Amino acid sequence: MSKPSDVTRADFDRYFVPTYAPTEFIPARGEGARVWDTADKEYIDLAGGIAVTSVGHCHPAVVKALTDQASTLWHVSNLHMTEPALRLAKKLVDATFADRVFFCNSGAEANEGALKMARRRAVNVHGEGKDEIIAFTNSFHGRTFFTVTTGGQPKYSEGFGPRPGAVTHLPFNDIDALKAAVSDKTCAIVVEPLQGEGGVNPATPEFLKAARELCDQFDALLVFDEVQTGNGRTGSLFAYEQTGVVPDILSTAKGMGNGFPIGAVLAKEEPASHMTPGTHGTTYGGNPLACAVAEAVFDIISSEDVLAGVKERGEILKTALENINRECLCFREVRGQGLLIGCELSAEFEGKAGALVGLLAKHGVLALVAGPNTLRLAPPLTISGEELAEGINRTSRAVANFVSA
Ligand SMILES: Cc1ncc(COP(=O)(O)O)c(C=O)c1O
Repeated sequence: MSKPSDVTRADFDRYFVPTYAPTEFIPARGEGARVWDTADKEYIDLAGGIAVTSVGHCHPAVVKALTDQASTLWHVSNLHMTEPALRLAKKLVDATFADRVFFCNSGAEANEGALKMARRRAVNVHGEGKDEIIAFTNSFHGRTFFTVTTGGQPKYSEGFGPRPGAVTHLPFNDIDALKAAVSDKTCAIVVEPLQGEGGVNPATPEFLKAARELCDQFDALLVFDEVQTGNGRTGSLFAYEQTGVVPDILSTAKGMGNGFPIGAVLAKEEPASHMTPGTHGTTYGGNPLACAVAEAVFDIISSEDVLAGVKERGEILKTALENINRECLCFREVRGQGLLIGCELSAEFEGKAGALVGLLAKHGVLALVAGPNTLRLAPPLTISGEELAEGINRTSRAVANFVSA
């Protein structure tokens, strides 16, 4: 039972910069894939926060890592290294294509670091003029000015005056457009292997392979944004492992800290070597609290059993959504990989993904949109069979209600 609250939703309207439109209910506590609000109403969290709580709310091993570290060491500046950061870096390098890591606090910062690395390397190796970053429509890379400009959704970057230059947007999955655009001026191609915010749109293996070949041909870097798809979300530690394509740089965040802010740039030796002391930095990136948490998360999600479980649970959820659709006929397509699933609404319900998410909450399910037409589900990777079944039952009732409204 939550203790009586001394704040209300109205306080948001009174005190906050109004960048968000939060729900009327206020989540107060969580356990596993369940969340309770201040009125003690229970929700099944099929959103994983926002594709973040990879091992569920308040996982005991993660709580222990955080509280142990909280009574040990919080901060020493990046004039020093700490044991949790050193351990985490080694584990990430051992488990991936990368030779080097840079820790930061969020997905946008990871992409900012990745893009700066690509630009820096191009200047060092080729001089001025090789600065073009190629990105794709509907992509999302974060909210800093550089990353919002790189993202392929103008609604997020318009209205702030001049944008950082030398960013080209191409249609996603269009190999001909890519071949026509990449040139000696290109310093990097940045792509989500499975677009999250933009609608849960998978990149085709052929498209990623073409991007790899063009980067090799023009000495550009291939950057995979795995902020959302990383850390087990698609059923492998990182999604690139299932594509047959290896990037030069990978950005990640979200599920890495299970809700504790941390992000990382993973890079091959050569691009990393251009980021010499003073070229980049952060006060909090790689702090011992975040790294201790991320190490505990990594230890759980890197197990073969957990990763196989993601694929299994993903199939159960996808099949259930397809069954719901057989009754309700409201989805044009159910797609995704592992536990990142999108249900694109059929024409009749166009633009109503937000309304469906609202109705799901009324029925006790937390869910997300991916644009105005797609319902997005990204539950904890470790959601139990019972939590998943309950979430599916409630979703089924909410969708029936949605189509009959
Ligand atoms: C693919 C991708 N890149 C970058 C970001 C930005 O991450 P953050 O909100 O942690 O800055 C997101 C967040 O949704 C994302 O999905």
